Amino acid sequence: MCGIVGYIGHREAYPIVLKGLQRLEYRGYDSAGIALYDGKDLNLCKTKGKVADLKTLLEKEISTSGKLGIGHTRWATHGVPNDVNSHPHYSNSGNLVIIHNGIIENYDSLKKELIKRGYTFQSDTDTEVLVNLIEDVMTNENIKLGKAVQLALNQVIGAYAIAVFDKNKPNEIVVAKLGSPLAIGIGEGEFFIASDASPFIEFTDNAIYLEDHEMAIVRLDKDIKIRKIEDDSLVNPYIQKLQLNLEQIEKGGYPHFMLKEIYEQPLAIKDTYRGRLLADEGIIKMAGIEDNMKRFLNADRIIIVACGTSWHAGLVAEYIFEDLARIPVEVEYASEFRYRNPVITEKDIVISISQSGETADTLAAIKLAKSKGAFVFGVCNVVGSSIARETDAGAYTHAGPEIGVASTKAFTTQITVLTLIALRLARAKGTMSSSDYRRHLHELELIPEKVTEALKADKHIQAISELYKDSRNMLYLGRGYNFPVALEGALKLKEISYIHAEGYPAAEMKHGPIALIDENMPVIIIATKKGHYDKVVSNIQEIKARKGKIIGIVTEGDVNVRELADHVIEVPETLENLSPLLTTIPLQLLSYHIAVLLGKNVDQPRNLAKSVTVE
Ligand code: F6R
Repeated sequence: MCGIVGYIGHREAYPIVLKGLQRLEYRGYDSAGIALYDGKDLNLCKTKGKVADLKTLLEKEISTSGKLGIGHTRWATHGVPNDVNSHPHYSNSGNLVIIHNGIIENYDSLKKELIKRGYTFQSDTDTEVLVNLIEDVMTNENIKLGKAVQLALNQVIGAYAIAVFDKNKPNEIVVAKLGSPLAIGIGEGEFFIASDASPFIEFTDNAIYLEDHEMAIVRLDKDIKIRKIEDDSLVNPYIQKLQLNLEQIEKGGYPHFMLKEIYEQPLAIKDTYRGRLLADEGIIKMAGIEDNMKRFLNADRIIIVACGTSWHAGLVAEYIFEDLARIPVEVEYASEFRYRNPVITEKDIVISISQSGETADTLAAIKLAKSKGAFVFGVCNVVGSSIARETDAGAYTHAGPEIGVASTKAFTTQITVLTLIALRLARAKGTMSSSDYRRHLHELELIPEKVTEALKADKHIQAISELYKDSRNMLYLGRGYNFPVALEGALKLKEISYIHAEGYPAAEMKHGPIALIDENMPVIIIATKKGHYDKVVSNIQEIKARKGKIIGIVTEGDVNVRELADHVIEVPETLENLSPLLTTIPLQLLSYHIAVLLGKNVDQPRNLAKSVTVE
């Protein structure tokens, strides 16, 4: 949560920092601020609101010139979103200025100490405490900024990605990282600092991703030196070539990133299995699995840890692993798992699923599992992310950047990777017949085309959305493989339209939720041909008998549900265990259109942020 950007070099910093903040707004968008050094003065402007609000205000209030600048877009943790709590924050002398992504947990005791020493505070933030702590160390010890940052951070408990500079020494920015991401882009006589590489992708494809407990002094006249915060030891910088391109992080003609990402799914799924799925040869190749095949074959069970949409993908994987590979699976919310002293042995495999690769609870769950001797396999989208680095092995989803806060293509590509793994293990264990295995491979290869088909219902779904946009509640039902899809459909609706929605296994309806059904309750029910179809049709009858409004997600050509339901949305036929890849598409479009019709901010829903780097 929170995005940080910095620039030092020969160009004007303001446009780079501003554009960078716009690209990082997915990380938090309740307030924003920029500090620029123009060669003489330090100019700072910050405000509650979005980066667009900051731009309007800043261009009226301060000079935008200067070749050194830092900026921040915030998702509030300490202190409500308001102008004062926005970053950057000054130190008491006004010499130091800082931006911070993370939480300083012991800020209260540090603040009390600083107050005793005469420091005063304008904001309620932990960040203002940190910048004053740095200043205090710097003045007391009479040392340079870099050393002061290091000594101050050794007193800090918490998580941070920070960038700080001293207006009296405007040829350097000091950065440090623990728990929150920080990338340094390296150009010709210029450096970029950001929470991810998107702010500097058009300027350089060379980047260093700081590891936890590392800091760097980014200085114009010298090579970057990276040091361990604890003991000052030097670390060899690893310069990575970035794969990202500008097109991937722009809207490309779509009104919202979410819609673009929904429509990207055929290609994203193809990119996920490209080079891994050789259907004609009957081969699945995944290095992370092949290299660790023995472990997977000897595992007592698989524990999946994740949050939100990724947790839903984990639930789909539970069905598919148990069904095809006959390996017992447990799916855990990372936030619960990490705090409940779980029984984990060396014969367990933990699979962590995360789009961003930065989710704090998932990271903590991984660390816990590793400390108990489990082998941890990561399924991540963001290359080089903290989770990708922390896990013993893994597989990327290769979905490309997902910028809309509501996860769409991440979900379907996570399911694709997990399906490939399940199939590979099933083959190795001999739990599937050769013909069934090959049928699955061929059918998986057809999924992108079928997603394209499913997307053709878009206009029809928009018309249905018009009818139900004013509902106060909605119920989503599905069975078997499509129960997690019902959960995911309900989550999508909640997060972007703010309509209350619940997902349930269809058969559980009779155990409580049926009491909610009346003529005002729309029920979205997934009733594809192969997924316990007759039983789901009975559930539909029960809803109809209570006058609920029925929107059925059905297989192409369905007759029975069409007769009963108020509306049907068709998806192409596929194997039952691949059906979530198709049934999820209409649910994404339904939530998208309802949110647009209600005038909600689809890409940046209130109170949310794309990567949840605080617990
Ligand atoms: C929902 C959504 C969140 C994320 C969750 C985990 O649309 O985006 O529920 O799925 O915060 O994030 P990652 O996958 O980045 O670990």
